[in-house]
Amino acid sequence: MSLSIENCLNQKLCTVFKKLGFDEKLAAVKVSDRPDLSDFQCNGALALAKSAHKNPREIGAQIAAELEKDADFAKISVDGPGFLNLTLASEFIGRTMDAAAGDERFGAGKSAAPRKIVMDFGGPNVAKALHVGHLRSAAIGESIRRIKLFMGHEVISDVHFGDWGTPMGMILAQIIAEDGNLAKAESYDIDQISAIYKRANLKCKEDDAAKETARRITAELQNGNPEYRRAWQHLRAVSVAAVKKIYDILDAHFDLWLGESDAHETCGKIVAAAAAQKISEIDDGAAIIRMDDESKPPLILVKSDGGFGYQLTDVATIKMRVDDLQAQEIIYVVDKRQALHFEQVFEAAQKLNLAPNVNLRHIGFGTVNGVDGKPFKTRDGGVMNLLDLLELSKNKVRESMPAANEVEGYSADEIEKMVTQIAVGAVKFQDLKNNIASGYVFETDDFARFEGRTGPYIQYAIARLNSILRKAAAAGLQPAEVIVGNREERDLALKIAQFGNVAARAEESCEPSVISDYAYTLAQVFSSFYNTSPILSETDVKIAASRLRLATLTRDLLKLNLYLLGIEAPEVMLKKAA
Ligand code: ARG
Repeated sequence: MSLSIENCLNQKLCTVFKKLGFDEKLAAVKVSDRPDLSDFQCNGALALAKSAHKNPREIGAQIAAELEKDADFAKISVDGPGFLNLTLASEFIGRTMDAAAGDERFGAGKSAAPRKIVMDFGGPNVAKALHVGHLRSAAIGESIRRIKLFMGHEVISDVHFGDWGTPMGMILAQIIAEDGNLAKAESYDIDQISAIYKRANLKCKEDDAAKETARRITAELQNGNPEYRRAWQHLRAVSVAAVKKIYDILDAHFDLWLGESDAHETCGKIVAAAAAQKISEIDDGAAIIRMDDESKPPLILVKSDGGFGYQLTDVATIKMRVDDLQAQEIIYVVDKRQALHFEQVFEAAQKLNLAPNVNLRHIGFGTVNGVDGKPFKTRDGGVMNLLDLLELSKNKVRESMPAANEVEGYSADEIEKMVTQIAVGAVKFQDLKNNIASGYVFETDDFARFEGRTGPYIQYAIARLNSILRKAAAAGLQPAEVIVGNREERDLALKIAQFGNVAARAEESCEPSVISDYAYTLAQVFSSFYNTSPILSETDVKIAASRLRLATLTRDLLKLNLYLLGIEAPEVMLKKAA
């Protein structure tokens, strides 16, 4: 039996619709809008009546009469203009829970058409510290990666390191200007490199000659100047090591650490092919590809100085992902302000026939703002560094937790690990509870609290459940057959049963917020359940064992949902006494 009660009901309704000669497409059920009246509802009779010019209540009654033969329903009523209200038999819900308890996927299906997906997210750049904008790409990208994998797709994640544009020439030029040559370049660490880049950036903004030098050096670097290449290798390696550390803390996984530079050779081939097929044209010394929609700017293939830019490397990377990795779909999780860039790149790829039958998709996310509605900044007006943000989160988490010297049984290291897991969870959950496209205001006060719609709230619910389950095991209580008795048991079971549909919806929409919403409500529903339906103090062993099974399912599902969000759940969570 499938855990997805909704799918099971859809099937039952379809069978009845078919038998009565009704259009099966109208047989869909949904969770009831009126939980006081029913568990599920079907509105199909209204649409059926319209097309057949009949009374919807009569059609509803016909369907109800058929459904009543099925013992899985406790009650069926036709209400209002012709809504079918369906109340399930408790035994049916109980059996579904028992089946779920034995299924590691909790009844979730897998995609009927598994694909090989390349995911492009992260997008860090040489010499630039990760900032709050990179958080979104890492958090959303990693969650979608896990959701896609869970649903049975093959996923290859690639960080697409920004290591080939003019900033490279700017840094090299700055080092030469400061040191006279590149001799010391290979001794610089990430902080020094970032500082050099900042100075280079300022200089190029004011000074056209400096900009010109940077452009020339970039072109020479791309053409293989060995001295530039050697220094660049170092800048790149140091930057990769620095961002890897942060992605490790954030639990973002990349299968490939390729960069824009890895597309260089392919770029040359694309440029030649585009010219030969007359897809590109020369405009003011640059090679460009015009867009069908003339209001859109053309894509710049080669700049007038001969340099390869951001757009060309992205086009070439598509070819590599299709030819070398056999990608059937490429998903980019990148700031939505780059929407036009991706429209241009996808159109160029299509004109060049680089990715026939490959689904190219840009998932654009909105900006993280401060309370003033402007992009989130530090107190002194700078861009918020990601490590500083995590530090801020850790300090907030410490406010809710006892310090190492205030509790027994935990080492300072264990406490610090707990703090990090919770702090990262708080930051990621705050990001993932929002729709991707809408930006959000970074809430510096409440996001790390153990109450409210936060990551720590769900982590805490799991830790509390872990403790309940440990105590039950110690008392020798085993989970067993689910008997749905009271309202809260029923609500919890029906919530658990929604998971399969939730996972499918999250995958289809590529929206982690579908998962975060579900996890939050599941934790809340459990909380109401536990207030009225004790486990350890319940004297009827059958009822206690049934509730224990529901509690175990809740714990396992909450953990799985946090996993799908890319968030870890500490086994134990210490909370300051209120
Ligand atoms: N490095 C780029 C930036 O900082 C983001 C890269 C996104 N991915 C891509 N394939 N263009 O803007």
